[in-house]
Amino acid sequence: MLAEARAAGLEFELIAVREGDKLPFRADSRITLTAGAFRAATQTVTPQGVMAIARVREASPPEVIEAAREAGWPLVVLDGVQDPGNVGAICRTAAAAGAPALAILPGSADPYGPKAVRASAGNVFRLKVARARWKDLEGLDGFGAAASSGAPLAEAPIESAGMIVLGSEAHGLSRPDLALVTVPLTEGIESLNVAAAAALILFEIRRRLAA
Ligand SMILES: C[S@@+](CC[C@H](N)C(=O)[O-])C[C@H]1O[C@@H](n2cnc3c(N)ncnc32)[C@H](O)[C@@H]1O
Repeated sequence: MLAEARAAGLEFELIAVREGDKLPFRADSRITLTAGAFRAATQTVTPQGVMAIARVREASPPEVIEAAREAGWPLVVLDGVQDPGNVGAICRTAAAAGAPALAILPGSADPYGPKAVRASAGNVFRLKVARARWKDLEGLDGFGAAASSGAPLAEAPIESAGMIVLGSEAHGLSRPDLALVTVPLTEGIESLNVAAAAALILFEIRRRLAA
């Protein structure tokens, strides 16, 4: 994960390596900790043998809107996605699909929290990410992803949308006025996991933009 973060341009202020463990790249700002000191400093129960401190520059809402517009991609918007594992998985998928930018609305997990960063496998650092409110996104039209009642994915012009909004695990979308897109599901299945829905939608956008 640190190697990926480094490849994405993140500069570490400090890297701490547990005695006996190895860092897969050279770093000047590195210290070695005994197993006991490392355990006391880490937040996870079964940590891997390295941890790092880095300063992240969060983007502003106008910056993420502009980054998406410039790349010809919809802005990916997380509307109350609460599980940090899902937020991280969506960041990983967005980076892999080529989406440049994300906006995180209130009620969503912190994309830079430790669980989300681990779930993104460090790919969150490849994206421009801003915390935003709906009013910051005024003027962007687009699609909300909904578990039912939306235009079928194959027919919705998602690749030319200003934004694609993914809703919360428990409550779905917080806005009732969005055009909706739905991945059609087998009868009797209520919904997809939000990160799975994001993967299908974002890779469909990638496919159409490449066509
Ligand atoms: C677990 S679902 C939410 C289900 C919730 N009961 C509801 O009221 O919508 C979480 C999010 O994943 C996305 N999602 C889930 N299934 C989807 C589908 N079949 N098509 C498009 N998006 C979907 C939507 O953005 C949804 O808000």
